[in-house]
Amino acid sequence: MFVFSKKLEGYREEIENFMRGYLESLDIGDDLKETISYAVFSGGKRFRPAIILHIGASLQVPRNKLLWPAAGVEFIHSYSLVHDDLPALDNDAERRGKPTLHVKFGEDMAVLAGDALALLAPQIVLESHFLTEKEKVRIALELTRRGGAEGIVEGQIADIRPKERTKEWVEYVFSKKTAPLFEFCMWVCGYLAGKFEAELLRFGKLLGLAFQARDDLLDAAEGKVDTTGISVVDVLGKDETERLINNWDKEANKIAERIEKAGMERLSRDLMEVFNFAVHRNV
Ligand code: IPE
Ligand code: MG
Repeated sequence: MFVFSKKLEGYREEIENFMRGYLESLDIGDDLKETISYAVFSGGKRFRPAIILHIGASLQVPRNKLLWPAAGVEFIHSYSLVHDDLPALDNDAERRGKPTLHVKFGEDMAVLAGDALALLAPQIVLESHFLTEKEKVRIALELTRRGGAEGIVEGQIADIRPKERTKEWVEYVFSKKTAPLFEFCMWVCGYLAGKFEAELLRFGKLLGLAFQARDDLLDAAEGKVDTTGISVVDVLGKDETERLINNWDKEANKIAERIEKAGMERLSRDLMEVFNFAVHRNV
């Protein structure tokens, strides 16, 4: 029971050691190293890379193939948070209980560290010694699609400049701002295993939607007001938001059931544990 939560700490350590080693190996000056390290090592949950390690293991993908995309997705996540916190966007002074990067190091360094991390994501995938050339190209492509224009960037714009305040718009924002990285995490495991790619992609989308809705509910419970973006709780209210999460949960369950029927019981269980973690978390 709850295999994922028990293993999360170990996954965190594994991915952090890997990212630390990689960042140490880069040919960059101390200022950039310090700033990037602050962005990457200030207490994130590492939920996205942990998904890759966990679901990849269920599909028996070798660890060595998983670590590079796992670090890549965390670099994209880190860049998105650094830029999201900037005065021109959310203007947040704190993240994870610490000063945001631009408060500590200046806006100039925050913009540049974000730029660096965004590009380090495909770079680390393309530098992997363990992925084949074909795998590297495909994985780097899917990661940049979702971490850039067609994913997070479009999502941020839809978030800060909403055309309407409706359920449809909120779902669009979530599907671009948050879901793409979760889609990537699930998809890459299926791709490397040669199994269930389409099912895992859809599962990742549902996971991302539910994760973001829970995030908005957690913010609302803390009394945080979203002044720059659109919150599902503001648009639909708490009860309707819970209903939406429930619908996504049901569809995710159906996918997991199909996977179980195809003989992959462990994968099915692990998928639902990850989904439940996202939906029931309190951080
Ligand atoms: C925060 O993501 C941004 C959202 C997409 C809601 P996380 O809650 O995964 O952030 P950290 O890395 O654990 O702080
Ligand atoms: Mg959060």
